[in-house]
Amino acid sequence: MDIIAKKVKDEFSKRFSSEPKIYYSPGRINLIGEHVDYNDGFVMPAAIDKGVYYAIAPNNTDQLNFYSIDFNDSLSVKLTGVIKLDGWKNYVLSVVNEFLIRKVELKGFDCVFGGNIANGAGMSSSAAVEGGLAFGINELFNLNINKPDLATLCQQAEHNYPGVNCGIMDQFANMMGKKDHVILLDCMTLKYQYFPLMLEGFEIVLINTKVHHSLAASEYNKRRQECEEGLMILKQNSDIRSFRDVTDPDTLLAFKDKMDKEVYNRCLFVVAEILRTQKAATLLQKNDLEGFGKLMIETHEGLSKLYEVSCKELDFLVEQARLNENVLGTRMMGGGFGGCTINIVKSKGVDIFLNDITTAYQKKFQIDPDVYKVAIVDGTHRVDS
Ligand code: GLA
Repeated sequence: MDIIAKKVKDEFSKRFSSEPKIYYSPGRINLIGEHVDYNDGFVMPAAIDKGVYYAIAPNNTDQLNFYSIDFNDSLSVKLTGVIKLDGWKNYVLSVVNEFLIRKVELKGFDCVFGGNIANGAGMSSSAAVEGGLAFGINELFNLNINKPDLATLCQQAEHNYPGVNCGIMDQFANMMGKKDHVILLDCMTLKYQYFPLMLEGFEIVLINTKVHHSLAASEYNKRRQECEEGLMILKQNSDIRSFRDVTDPDTLLAFKDKMDKEVYNRCLFVVAEILRTQKAATLLQKNDLEGFGKLMIETHEGLSKLYEVSCKELDFLVEQARLNENVLGTRMMGGGFGGCTINIVKSKGVDIFLNDITTAYQKKFQIDPDVYKVAIVDGTHRVDS
């Protein structure tokens, strides 16, 4: 059994008397398709070997007992007393609240969780926390909710208590991930395909800026509003019903004087990113990683200049990576304002690249960035104990 799974199980045994079930709930990477999941776009995420383990067992009371190993903090509430609190507590209680809203028959349970995924690193630790608990509750109480519906439940949980109006990407990847595959998810219909990720001679590495600017959640919600505003203007003045209907970014020029500059730039990014992701999917199927990498760089440019969700630390890492001939693609990943860059790098040059870039980053910001070589794993599942 994985060392963290064992730690979670042992901690459970110290605190509670019953035999728990153990679950693994992964974080995610996203190859391309950023900030378009809430704009009817396509995304290309995969579940990774950084995530959260849960140990859960029913306790035959009406009490919910949680212990977070990573925060060394516990929480006990009655099922009837589930309310919005703060920090990690909001993530677990919001999931329980979603089950309660759906009026399913829940009973009390004991729960210990902990993992190896950095908070605020853009690998979606929040979806990992939500997904593991939702999956566990679903199994323990035989609720028979399917995985895509659990993903939607978790997305709503994130909207509710934590108050981040996220799209579906993170929760979907968390539930539906498949070992050694990326998911091409159409966020308009929730139809998806798996592509094998053939990386012979290449590696995906994440570099964590180790900064997480506090604006992240409020700016995220603001971007979403700006996109809604832009789409409204498009709808009022044309037959366009969704950003998906715009198949050429130049179409937007006709609406430029009807929108604020920011709103226009957000729309321009979204339209281009949706088209780019479709193109990227074709290149990936042909295993054209070089072409794919170029599109990642375009995505970063757009996220930084038009969508304005990057920051100086992320931009620095991308600029540095672009100077290295072994790097095919590089960009910020996830919501932004800190967190990780994702890089596709030739295996033979990975170690030198990581050494050079971490040294340069340390020199510039006096921060030692973390680096992760991630493996692509199955979505949330039970672990044999
Ligand atoms: C966060 C959100 C996702 C998605 C990304 C940006 O991770 O949770 O829904 O919008 O940002 O692509």
